Amino acid sequence: MASPAGDAVASRSAGGAVVPRHVAIIMDGNGRWAKKRLLPRIAGHRQGAEALRKTLRAAGEMGIEALTLYAFSSENWRRPVTEIADLMGLLRHYLRREIDEIHANGIRLHVIGDYRRLDSDIVALIDEARARTAGNSGMHFVIALNYGAQDEIVRAARALAEEARSGTLDPASIDASAIEARLDTHCLPPLDLLIRTSGEARLSNFLLWQAAYAELLFVDTLWPDFDGAALAKAVAAFGARERRYGGL
Ligand code: FPP
Repeated sequence: MASPAGDAVASRSAGGAVVPRHVAIIMDGNGRWAKKRLLPRIAGHRQGAEALRKTLRAAGEMGIEALTLYAFSSENWRRPVTEIADLMGLLRHYLRREIDEIHANGIRLHVIGDYRRLDSDIVALIDEARARTAGNSGMHFVIALNYGAQDEIVRAARALAEEARSGTLDPASIDASAIEARLDTHCLPPLDLLIRTSGEARLSNFLLWQAAYAELLFVDTLWPDFDGAALAKAVAAFGARERRYGGL
């Protein structure tokens, strides 16, 4: 990921509307969506997977270059084991069912976070999907799994320290771009817009470094109700913001 104030110029679509290059979403509110309908929480997560599908399709149509979704945080292990198992089941199902279409649409699948700690069959599905789509040239679809921004920064710091210890890196040369090059998002465009659904206004350890110059948008919609129209509304709100990167 390049320096935020450097080439972080949001692209313009042919129609003149400003389109963010990289959008990230904290998909929140699945449980509340289900509760309102007297349904089990898994029903909310299932509907959340539908919202994900619609949003991914719409993002591609709008010309967004990268879409990063917070699917499972490093803190989500604190949830009841039954809910964790439900979420992992949904992830398995999603990876098996959607990868053909993702690949057919030229999308590149990435995972950020320490996903190798998930069940080995899920790790294998992810690695297979990443390898299969790596040569595509379309949108980057990024799923954050067992992701925590502080952990990501700690891992980058550790990598730099190892390189300094082995003599391949001069500590005096470490700057923001050296850290960015070691983050999980290193191959993605700069983050332009970070959306959180369900009315909560927190970052919850998501993309803390990358959000330095991103526009933040908190919307009341519960994630299972999110779709292409909601994304278009968020993109329009982004287009109306003035970005100054610390300048005037
Ligand atoms: C937050 O809602 C949502 C999550 C922790 C999981 C997000 C997962 C999905 C959208 C399912 C599909 C994902 C994939 C990759 C197939 P919450 O449960 O915290 O809602 P609440 O705050 O209303 O309880």
